[in-house]
Amino acid sequence: MNRLKTGIIGTGFIGPAHIEALRRTGLTEVTALADVSEEAAKAKAEELSIPEYYGDYKKLLLNPDIDIVHICTPNHLHFKMSKEALEAGKHVVCEKPLAMNTAEACELVRLAEEKGLVNAVHFNLRFYPVVHHVRAMIENGELGEIFAVNGSYQQDWLFYQTDYNWRLEPEYSGDSRAVADIGSHWLDSVEFMTGLKVERVCADFATFYPVRKKPLKQVDTYSGKTLTSEDYGDIEIGTEDYATVLLQFNGKAHGSLTVNQVAAGRKNRCYYEIYGSRRSAVIDTEHPNEVWIGRRDGNNELLLKDPSLLLEPARAITSFPGGHNEGFPDTSKQLFKKLYIYILNGCKGEIEFPAFAAGAREIKLCEVIVDSAKSKGWKQV
Ligand SMILES: NC(=O)c1ccc[n+]([C@@H]2O[C@H](COP(=O)([O-])OP(=O)(O)OC[C@H]3O[C@@H](n4cnc5c(N)ncnc54)[C@H](O)[C@@H]3O)[C@@H](O)[C@H]2O)c1
Repeated sequence: MNRLKTGIIGTGFIGPAHIEALRRTGLTEVTALADVSEEAAKAKAEELSIPEYYGDYKKLLLNPDIDIVHICTPNHLHFKMSKEALEAGKHVVCEKPLAMNTAEACELVRLAEEKGLVNAVHFNLRFYPVVHHVRAMIENGELGEIFAVNGSYQQDWLFYQTDYNWRLEPEYSGDSRAVADIGSHWLDSVEFMTGLKVERVCADFATFYPVRKKPLKQVDTYSGKTLTSEDYGDIEIGTEDYATVLLQFNGKAHGSLTVNQVAAGRKNRCYYEIYGSRRSAVIDTEHPNEVWIGRRDGNNELLLKDPSLLLEPARAITSFPGGHNEGFPDTSKQLFKKLYIYILNGCKGEIEFPAFAAGAREIKLCEVIVDSAKSKGWKQV
């Protein structure tokens, strides 16, 4: 099988995670990266052993050798960069959220289709083997009819008033923060697992820090603790630290999602509880190699991620034997494997990765959730 050539735009936190995951697929060579300046791009290219680098992403898009571009920049740039990449004839993987609103997202879906280019959104949390396993259980009827879906996505990286990131500014991040940033992953995985669609929502938002402290000078990641009080200015916060959303799905199922970015001790905990008429299934991504299966009559089970015990779709995205744990970095590898094999096979067969349409769907859901929080009532999706 031939290998593809990939270019990465944006090399902060998630860009290098894409590069590492891509290298582990063995299906592509990451030949180029781009960041805000030549200096920043050069430093990253040296650190990550990437042969070509650009201080302007437009130059990367002009490189005829690059087949596919991954967009790993802040949210406000996703639409523009994805559009230009498609216009330059590149397949595109875009980070979530796909765009800043539904109109932009739908334009990208249309453009990708018109150009006949492969497109994906990095909803990597679907690619925990246990998530694919629960999906297969539901498809096989093992959980029965789904009655309730509850859960949360909680983190503590914005716990202090002095914690600061571009995600706190709607101009760069969008009108929703916690729901769009992390709730979107939960919603995507829940619809993927259950096959159900959220039809109605009722949301309660809270912003615990209406004013935060923004560093007045450039601070390198993790060095904020060395700042003194004179180094900060006040910034008003208009997006949610926290949200609880009541959900109604098609069919019988009801549900609830809580997201919180100031939950002390919760580092990155995405939690799903799915209750059916026969059994229940629970996944906690801080223990991503286990799935709890609940029964009324008989013992509950703790299934460990072991290819010999998993259902086929989950086994297909498991690279290591039981007891050899797989986690967050492996989810991207598995998503990229599906996507790159699809391209290398001539774009034939089933699309087994989240395409731009999945990104547009999550943006629509977030918009309706924001609308519900503002109007303090139920809203139809
Ligand atoms: N799927 C996931 O699990 C996951 C996890 C983290 C972040 N993300 C998404 O990835 C995106 C980036 O998040 P991050 O945490 O890596 O942010 P970050 O701030 O750590 O990195 C952003 C990078 O983009 C670069 N950049 C900014 N403007 C640019 C421009 N005009 N041209 C080229 N590069 C530019 C910055 O210099 C930086 O290197 C966000 O949209 C976020 O939602 C997804």
